[in-house]
Amino acid sequence: MDNGRSLWASLVLLNLLITSRALLTPRISFPLGSPGRPLTVFNMSGVDNTTTLLLSNDENTLFVGARDSILALDISHPWAIDIKNRLDWSPTEKDLADCSMKGKKKTDCPNFVRVLQVLNSTHMYACGTFAFSPRCTYINTQNFALATGPSGKPEEGRGRSPYDPYQKNIAITVDGELYTGTVADYMGNRPVISRHLSEGSHVDLKLDDTPGWLEEPTFISSAFVRGEEKVYFFFSEVGREYDFLEKFTVSRIAQVCTSDVGGQRTLQKRWTTFAKAQLLCQAEKELPYNVLQDVFTLSPPEGASDEDTLFYGIFRPQWPINSGRSAVCAFSLGDIKAVFSGNYKVLNRDSLRWTTRVQEKIANPGECGLHNASDNTLRFVKENFLADASVQPTKRRITLASADQDYSNIAAQRVRAANGKEHTVLYLLTELGYLHKAVLLEEGAHIIEEVQVFRQPQPMKNLLLSLLKGSVFIGTSEGVTRVPLSNCSFYPNCAECVLARDPFCGWDHSRGLCADVSTIQGSTGQDVDGGNVSVACRAPPVVTPRSSRPTAASCELVLVSLNEVVRLKCPEASRLATRHWQRPNSRLSPDLYLKQQDGSLQFLATPITLGHYMCQAEENGFQQTLAIYQVKQKSSTTLHPPTTTRHQGKATVEVGKLAPTPRSVPPKQPDIRAKEPELAVTKKDANAGSTRRTGRNFTLWFDSSQAKQPRDSVGEEPLHGTQPSYLQELVVVSVLLALCISILLTIALYGLRQRCRGRTITQVCPRKDAERGTGAATPQERESLQGHSPRTAKCNGQAQNGQAQNGKSPISISNGSLSGSNGHLPNTPI
Ligand SMILES: *[C@@H]1O[C@H](CO)[C@@H](O)[C@H](O)[C@H]1NC(C)=O
Ligand SMILES: *[C@@H]1O[C@H](CO)[C@@H](O)[C@H](O)[C@H]1NC(C)=O
Ligand SMILES: *[C@@H]1O[C@H](CO)[C@@H](O)[C@H](O)[C@H]1NC(C)=O
Ligand SMILES: *[C@@H]1O[C@H](CO)[C@@H](O)[C@H](O)[C@H]1NC(C)=O
Ligand SMILES: *[C@@H]1O[C@H](CO)[C@@H](O)[C@H](O)[C@H]1NC(C)=O
Ligand SMILES: *[C@@H]1O[C@H](CO)[C@@H](O)[C@H](O)[C@H]1NC(C)=O
Ligand SMILES: *[C@@H]1O[C@H](CO)[C@@H](O)[C@H](O)[C@H]1NC(C)=O
Repeated sequence: MDNGRSLWASLVLLNLLITSRALLTPRISFPLGSPGRPLTVFNMSGVDNTTTLLLSNDENTLFVGARDSILALDISHPWAIDIKNRLDWSPTEKDLADCSMKGKKKTDCPNFVRVLQVLNSTHMYACGTFAFSPRCTYINTQNFALATGPSGKPEEGRGRSPYDPYQKNIAITVDGELYTGTVADYMGNRPVISRHLSEGSHVDLKLDDTPGWLEEPTFISSAFVRGEEKVYFFFSEVGREYDFLEKFTVSRIAQVCTSDVGGQRTLQKRWTTFAKAQLLCQAEKELPYNVLQDVFTLSPPEGASDEDTLFYGIFRPQWPINSGRSAVCAFSLGDIKAVFSGNYKVLNRDSLRWTTRVQEKIANPGECGLHNASDNTLRFVKENFLADASVQPTKRRITLASADQDYSNIAAQRVRAANGKEHTVLYLLTELGYLHKAVLLEEGAHIIEEVQVFRQPQPMKNLLLSLLKGSVFIGTSEGVTRVPLSNCSFYPNCAECVLARDPFCGWDHSRGLCADVSTIQGSTGQDVDGGNVSVACRAPPVVTPRSSRPTAASCELVLVSLNEVVRLKCPEASRLATRHWQRPNSRLSPDLYLKQQDGSLQFLATPITLGHYMCQAEENGFQQTLAIYQVKQKSSTTLHPPTTTRHQGKATVEVGKLAPTPRSVPPKQPDIRAKEPELAVTKKDANAGSTRRTGRNFTLWFDSSQAKQPRDSVGEEPLHGTQPSYLQELVVVSVLLALCISILLTIALYGLRQRCRGRTITQVCPRKDAERGTGAATPQERESLQGHSPRTAKCNGQAQNGQAQNGKSPISISNGSLSGSNGHLPNTPI
């Protein structure tokens, strides 16, 4: 055993060195409460642990098994969850007292509903832990009241619901019969897979008690495939066949036939069709993902055979190197059937060791219709139930592996893209409460977005996909959350719409908006496989008034004093985009500029660093400008020290945006100029939509003394290191500045006297400032803006953005404002 362990440890270490998987980063992240992805939450005081979810057949009602109650929720209205009915079902005081007496925690003693199934057109069936004494009940669906079954007695819950509310279980109804997998005793060490509510010659069945059928299993999921007349169970358990390792967990699929009625003498009232096989989720030379977390059954596409049914499973490694590693593997029913019809291992009952079968095969284990079989055959079946081969994932590879996420729940669907191609979309819930939406592409998985659905890690949770309602429902201790499958209108322009690679969303060239592809009549801009903006956003032949043009960034003016630390922010268009900063005609030397982790640029305001800055983003070959700034020196610092903005050494200043000068707009596109201001506003809204996108805000640190001192917080390249090299220039400049200022002062004082009465503010950014009321620009700042001549004061960075066709940014900046780079004090009115 020890040898096995150390071997394993070295294997793990080896993997550490080999594995260098790229992180799967969601393209966009929506934190809780983000307006871009509004969620509907159902919560009600007195209703807790809403974790057992069931859809009615018409998917207009969501039934919820909660703590001491069962609910019927109306989900027929989009974006809403309304309560229809509530049924209380709680243990008596005596039951609770008994539960506490047995030493159980009071909070674990209520009745946690763990089985909730539709039986027939008039009744449902529910089971709960019922103060560690499981119980079941019928529910009359008409009046939503507890009902008794044919026996007229309370229903036994043993073998149907677990005792412990933290134990996982599975249940599925097929033609009025209930198939379950759970532990059937108080101590939690008698696991059983069984059938209940059977009638007539169709007797209730369970697993034989002999060892080896189940080894400390954790039940995960179940599925019924009608064409096969089989119920499949998914669970993980101790893999006794791997006797070189102590308690090595394996993931399993097991099957039983719905026609099974047990044997006549041998295997009486026991399954004759039970067989199990190992599910493998392992990439070559990698740690096996051996512990199953959840399984979703994806029905075959229309017209395809049952064999194309896919089971998507989430797996985690048993001994994770770091927490937050999981993988998704898909298994086809065809592959599973092949494994079940192959050879079986034999369990030696004396040594409890598994060997590959050597004796003659006298029956096909797992075969349906063995009820009249001979004792000999049934004995053979009883000994041979573990398939020799393991089920490999489809295409023999992992569908999706994440190095930093603990996925816990999964749902999947096929979505038809605009070009008619079907894509598989996965919904994956993380332990930390984010719902990842991923599309499976040839090159691998692409995570379109993540939406936060809860804050606290949840011990029990559930995920349910409603295709008819276009929603994912998530049940937790905090309530039920409804997440719409997509929100195409979040993407403000064609480029974003295409880069998202969301098969639901396409750019409607005629309406000029990102919409659900099913609602688009004409030509659709979409490229799920390639995400190629230049192709998908090429305007259709018919020129329409609203073209598919990326949202423009508008120029912002930043007023600084020399030696201030300036920090320019760059909004995040997407987490997959790389951002880089540019200055016209000059390179950003790493000695002067510090690029922060959040994409912002930090530098010391010196004559050299005044001027224009652009932040550009590149994603999948598409470039766009996210922000343009003009950094200018405050012209009248000595007259108006920034007293109002000094605030604990740090102040956030919003400066009005500038409308672009008509001159720099290409004359071919007159409509763009007219649209520009509106677009700037749209962009702002889009920023607000995703809270992780930084707003168009930048922060100035005003404590210049602090800037001169060594600052650890600045990063590896301390800013103060650049100080000495400019000391000389600084002195010269300061002298010059002092001179200028004194001249200025004289002029200004003179001017002030002249203009004292009729003070009209000739704004640099007149429109925006008016829009924002007084805005954040202090009176001093606005006053200081007065002095500028229109030419130098304007921020000429053209906001019109990189067209998809050329991928370049046609930003032009007039030379007049670039004098800063040749050593003169720029923008100083003399
Ligand atoms: C979709 O996104 C837009 C833009 O962020 C937002 O205004 C709207 O409320 C969202 N709608 C839904 C249904 O999620
Ligand atoms: C329901 O949830 C909302 C938002 O999460 C919260 O503000 C409210 O207090 C909750 N109500 C109850 C009854 O728990
Ligand atoms: C549904 O099942 C219940 C309980 O077994 C039974 O009383 C009822 O008659 C059944 N309803 C129908 C329509 O079969
Ligand atoms: C099994 O045997 C019973 C009687 O012993 C008979 O009625 C039934 O038809 C047989 N079933 C099959 C599948 O042979
Ligand atoms: C029930 O919900 C409470 C919080 O309301 C949580 O602390 C507890 O762990 C949950 N119990 C189960 C069994 O889910
Ligand atoms: C997009 O398509 C064009 C034309 O087919 C091609 O030149 C370009 O390389 C593609 N870009 C990407 C990022 O695939
Ligand atoms: C700028 O930041 C302030 C404070 O952090 C915030 O109140 C304001 O809404 C932000 N403005 C924009 C445009 O994001």
